[in-house]
Amino acid sequence: MIKRRLKKAGNEFSKKELRAMIDSQNLPRHIAVIMDGNGRWAKKRMLPRVAGHRIGLESAIKIVRVASNLGVQVLTLYAFSAENWRRPPEEVGELMKLLVEYLRRELLDMQKNNVRFQAIGRISGLPGWVQEEIRWSTDQTKDNTGLLLNVALNYGSRLEIIDAVKGIVSDAQDNKIDIDNLDEETFSDYLYTKDVPDPDMLIRTSGEMRISNFLLWQLAYSELFIVPTLWPDFREKELLQAVIEYQKRERRFGTIGKIAQSK
Ligand code: IPE
Ligand code: IPE
Ligand code: MG
Repeated sequence: MIKRRLKKAGNEFSKKELRAMIDSQNLPRHIAVIMDGNGRWAKKRMLPRVAGHRIGLESAIKIVRVASNLGVQVLTLYAFSAENWRRPPEEVGELMKLLVEYLRRELLDMQKNNVRFQAIGRISGLPGWVQEEIRWSTDQTKDNTGLLLNVALNYGSRLEIIDAVKGIVSDAQDNKIDIDNLDEETFSDYLYTKDVPDPDMLIRTSGEMRISNFLLWQLAYSELFIVPTLWPDFREKELLQAVIEYQKRERRFGTIGKIAQSK
């Protein structure tokens, strides 16, 4: 029986079996996700791109719930990049509408599941009606102590680094910090992700082998998982499989690691 089970291909395990395979003592604290492939998912079905975004939204809702139930501390979802303004205006408009729909639909659930919502990126560059909804959800969930849901909107990592440098220069001019003592920890405090541990895992769906200007500083030692699944098809099973894979990896952070040490 056990032998047969071990032989099963990963995708044949039931959700229950997958959940049982996860070591609750070795959970990633922070999972970051590049939710990619909505357009291709729609194209395969001869649907408009926005249909892919709509189903992609359902994946996002599901993944937030699964991460929250697993006991992950932080989930960062890349929802709209600073470069995504280059898309046709109709698509950009639909994405903004979907974001507001998400926040309105999910607020009650976030409260119920103790989820704290936060947006990262140049939020002031978003339309006023989107900003208002972000402010409302952030404020309403600010005292929740469960999963921190970071949604990256109008986010570009190089812009984030420039914003950090500006903050540091301004504080140095006001004598609030001493440049000679600037270290990695202090620098991190000026990023949008301040107070958040670096991602343990980065998941990118749809198989693209690139980072697309996401969390360049924070991903320095993250474990990378690029999966072929398109985002609208990425649900509970796919996330559990990625976490199981994560738990098999040896993170070395530049050391020689456990295996070499034991030889
Ligand atoms: C990801 O899906 C969603 C956003 C970038 C907002 P895409 O829209 O990039 O889908 P593909 O990459 O064209 O398939
Ligand atoms: C990255 O996906 C941005 C988001 C998922 C929001 P893109 O589809 O925009 O990335 P590229 O253009 O393929 O690198
Ligand atoms: Mg894409």
